[in-house]
Amino acid sequence: MHDIGIYGLGVMGENLALRAHDVGLSVAVFNRTKDKAFALAARVGNPRFEAFAEPAAFVASLRRPRLLLLMVTAGPATDAAFEAVLPFLEEGDVLVDGGNAHYEDTLRREARARQARIAYVGMGISGGELGARTGPALMPGGDAEAYTRIASRLEALAARLPDGRPAVAYMGKSAAGHYVKMVHNGIEYVFLQLLAEAYDALRNVYGYASVELADAFARANQGPWESYLIGLVRHILTVPDPETSQPLVEQILDVAEGKGTGLWTAEEALRLGVGGSTFAAAVHARNLSRERDLRLACAEACGEPWHRPEALPAYETWRDALHAAVLIAYAQGFALLRRASETYDFAVDLANVAQVWQSGAIVRIRFLANLERNLRRSPETSHPLLFPEIWEFVRERENALRSFAAWAVRTGMPAPAHLAALADLDGLRRRRLPANLIQAARDAFGAHTYRRIDREGSFHTSWPDPEGREIPRPRS
Ligand SMILES: NC(=O)c1ccc[n+]([C@@H]2O[C@H](COP(=O)([O-])OP(=O)(O)OC[C@H]3O[C@@H](n4cnc5c(N)ncnc54)[C@H](OP(=O)(O)O)[C@@H]3O)[C@@H](O)[C@H]2O)c1
Repeated sequence: MHDIGIYGLGVMGENLALRAHDVGLSVAVFNRTKDKAFALAARVGNPRFEAFAEPAAFVASLRRPRLLLLMVTAGPATDAAFEAVLPFLEEGDVLVDGGNAHYEDTLRREARARQARIAYVGMGISGGELGARTGPALMPGGDAEAYTRIASRLEALAARLPDGRPAVAYMGKSAAGHYVKMVHNGIEYVFLQLLAEAYDALRNVYGYASVELADAFARANQGPWESYLIGLVRHILTVPDPETSQPLVEQILDVAEGKGTGLWTAEEALRLGVGGSTFAAAVHARNLSRERDLRLACAEACGEPWHRPEALPAYETWRDALHAAVLIAYAQGFALLRRASETYDFAVDLANVAQVWQSGAIVRIRFLANLERNLRRSPETSHPLLFPEIWEFVRERENALRSFAAWAVRTGMPAPAHLAALADLDGLRRRRLPANLIQAARDAFGAHTYRRIDREGSFHTSWPDPEGREIPRPRS
């Protein structure tokens, strides 16, 4: 009998299956294209790694309570795999979807599984190909009791934090796991956009050569900001193109793709009315990059935007601005998770999120340990910036973010994610915003009413028309 069944052997499924085998679990694999499963099992060459041609035999080979992990393309493919195995599962079994499902699809599948008395766990997985092979971050949500039945197997699979804890923990009810993964990807979008803006400044305005560029990112990858993505960028900057011997990154077309999870995050922030300006900025920036023909036409017709201001910000200003903006993006992610948790009754454990993202995850960064500590101590605190320790990280860098953003504006260098982070930071701390003017205008043209600062209630004023018009009286 096998400890875990993996359905779907793409990049992620294959590497997770090999990881499961490495950590001592007995593995059953199934794939739509069956040859792939049998070829993989032959490669492993161990009876504790077995391929199956039929879903019935695949499911029957698993020890109970069964742990069956779907690792197929999100969307209709997940429905197809789900329906293929559901008839063979029995009460007590746990079906886990490890794909990047939209949380609404997870809610639908969870309800369908419940009818069949099968526990359904939507689980975000992070770490990419290498993470899957060497230890991913796992974000399971759904039936809490079902999670306890499979927890030890998932803990074996997951990456480890420096203190030995696993990069897996229960995220919350129903679709919480996939929601957390969506926000993880939203943060990943912003982080990459911020890094791209930081690279743009050094490469195209400061005029750094590739060695200096890599060094700048290496020096920024320290202390609380030591992270996978800053390290990745540093590394990428050192890789030459075998054909031209130039840095490979310079030979790559400036058109950013994506699979939509960043857009989902921005949409959710808009829908729930919570600060998500950095997510929206990152998605817009990718969209604009894809408008390449239009950009080339505008550059030709209107000229490129460069203005050369007198002085370049110091290296420390560039670095601290990046650090502050990165932290603000995470803060927006955690604030969104808190609001979603209340709105959808996910009961997300934010400290567990901060724990799991510390290792294996693409968004792993050292300051998450500080955030986790604060969240464990005070889980009700409504925004990460309200933790004095976290605010101190930003406060120390606020001036740098302001200087860098202002410099980028004067230079004509688009820095939408830095600017969005700064505007959020400034707006968040305003006791009084100019929204009173918006309310006055709404009431003036649409009688939408307003609330007052000095008493409860809803008010309407007959504002004089700016063009001197009067509402015609009905003729008597
Ligand atoms: N790549 C990453 O870094 C990453 C990270 C985290 C999560 N994820 C998520 O993990 C899941 C798997 O990703 P992936 O990168 O390994 O590859 P993928 O290309 O998204 O999925 C490939 C797998 O899906 C199967 N599949 C496709 N259509 C199917 C259908 N209609 N019915 C049954 N099976 C079908 C494929 O089977 P065949 O071999 O027969 O084509 C293959 O096993 C996705 O949901 C993805 O979003 C990916």
